[in-house]
Amino acid sequence: MAAPFAICLFISGGSSMPSKSQQITEDSPRTTRMKNTTRALFALVLVVSSILACAPSAAAGEKKKRCHAGDKAALLALKAALGNPYLLASWTSDTSCCDDWYDVSCDGATGRVIGISLSQDDNVTGAIPAAIANLTHLTSLTFHHLPGITAPIPPAIAKLSGLSMLIISWTGVSGPVPSFLGSLTSLTFLDLSFNSLSGSIPASLAALPNLSGINLSRNRLSGPIPTGLFSQLLSPDQQQVYLWLSHNNLSGTIPTGFDAVRFEHVDVSRNALSGDASVLFGAGKALQYADLSRNALSFNLSALELPERQLVGVDMSHNAIYGGIPPQVANMAGLQQFNVSYNRLCGQVPLFAANIAARFDVFSFQHNKCLCGTPLPTPCK
Ligand SMILES: *[C@@H]1O[C@H](CO)[C@@H](O)[C@H](O)[C@H]1NC(C)=O
Ligand SMILES: *[C@@H]1O[C@H](CO)[C@@H](O)[C@H](O)[C@H]1NC(C)=O
Ligand SMILES: *[C@@H]1O[C@H](CO)[C@@H](O)[C@H](O)[C@H]1NC(C)=O
Ligand SMILES: *[C@@H]1O[C@H](CO)[C@@H](O)[C@H](O)[C@H]1NC(C)=O
Ligand SMILES: *[C@@H]1O[C@H](CO)[C@@H](O)[C@H](O)[C@H]1NC(C)=O
Ligand SMILES: *[C@@H]1O[C@H](CO)[C@@H](O)[C@H](O)[C@H]1NC(C)=O
Ligand SMILES: *[C@@H]1O[C@H](CO)[C@@H](O)[C@H](O)[C@H]1NC(C)=O
Repeated sequence: MAAPFAICLFISGGSSMPSKSQQITEDSPRTTRMKNTTRALFALVLVVSSILACAPSAAAGEKKKRCHAGDKAALLALKAALGNPYLLASWTSDTSCCDDWYDVSCDGATGRVIGISLSQDDNVTGAIPAAIANLTHLTSLTFHHLPGITAPIPPAIAKLSGLSMLIISWTGVSGPVPSFLGSLTSLTFLDLSFNSLSGSIPASLAALPNLSGINLSRNRLSGPIPTGLFSQLLSPDQQQVYLWLSHNNLSGTIPTGFDAVRFEHVDVSRNALSGDASVLFGAGKALQYADLSRNALSFNLSALELPERQLVGVDMSHNAIYGGIPPQVANMAGLQQFNVSYNRLCGQVPLFAANIAARFDVFSFQHNKCLCGTPLPTPCK
């Protein structure tokens, strides 16, 4: 019954206001993707409408039930604060925020708004509106590729205590990574990459028990990686951890506590990190990919044990790493990338197994202190 009823709503929708069906005639990637769906839906409408008599008044009643009034008011306030962009033309007071509005998702059982995802539009402008605080049931919030969104991340975000996923990326937001994000205890994934954030990474993030993915790449962050980050993860054995901090100006060392974290992907490239990175490695680790390139890391590589089973790539280029290359790498069949160029390594490059040797050319090993042997031009004495 639910599907035909939705179709009733579809054909009884207003014709003068820009609605979901009208936005579909636009030519953005998102809407072209939806065109096929619309055609299929339209065919279905023809079939179903010949069978069903749609009752507009009943439909309107159902709509109201499906959109919480407080949530709707907050969304309309949000729209106004963002300059009433065309992207949000489907957000109108006489339609249902759960059924008819783009970029909004609701909990089917409660009818509360649980997700907002706004992306790819230059006309959405202003600060992230404080009105967002009234969307008390939000679990997922995305602002992606919205260059007109500026100013600091507002304290209103801290009111969204159910938030599990927060993505503010490729926007113009500036100011700090707010320490109040540490009060969002349900947070599992935080992506604030490709913004203009500055200051240091707040230590408060370390308190979050379920936060297992952090992306702060491509900002202007400085200071250390907080010790204790990921230390409160409830089930460290199970949780796979993702950390992207590349293209910032972070300094200090990689926290020794990272030894206990089950990293799958780590990218701390292009910062100013120093000291030892060997805590990220070790035989039993889940690590698949690590990019540590372009830092000031300095440690003895000789005794490093790489996780053999699933490691696919390691880039350690442009650091001050010394010692020699562990012979183990020569037989790691899954290893696609191993780059230790521009370091202070010495000794012989291990003789790679025949089936994998072609993956590692001179560019993976060049510019070291005294590395020698194939594929380098320098023979070992
Ligand atoms: C943005 O605004 C301009 C000028 O009002 C308009 O021409 C353009 O179509 C808008 N773009 C989108 C994606 O809505
Ligand atoms: C939240 O909603 C209340 C009542 O509807 C309103 O008074 C208040 O201004 C709203 N808060 C924000 C930040 O918009
Ligand atoms: C953390 O995740 C677990 C397992 O998914 C869940 O039971 C728990 O409620 C979450 N904790 C918070 C504070 O959201
Ligand atoms: C995180 O940021 C990196 C840039 O370092 C980007 O390539 C990657 O796609 C982002 N990952 C996610 C899951 O957002
Ligand atoms: C990076 O941080 C250091 C201090 O840790 C500072 O001296 C330097 O100017 C910063 N570089 C950039 C590009 O911000
Ligand atoms: C690196 O460690 C190895 C033992 O694992 C040791 O033999 C070697 O002297 C060390 N190299 C340097 C430069 O400290
Ligand atoms: C290794 O890193 C260096 C320096 O960043 C780069 O020039 C080279 O292309 C990389 N080599 C491979 C095989 O990826």
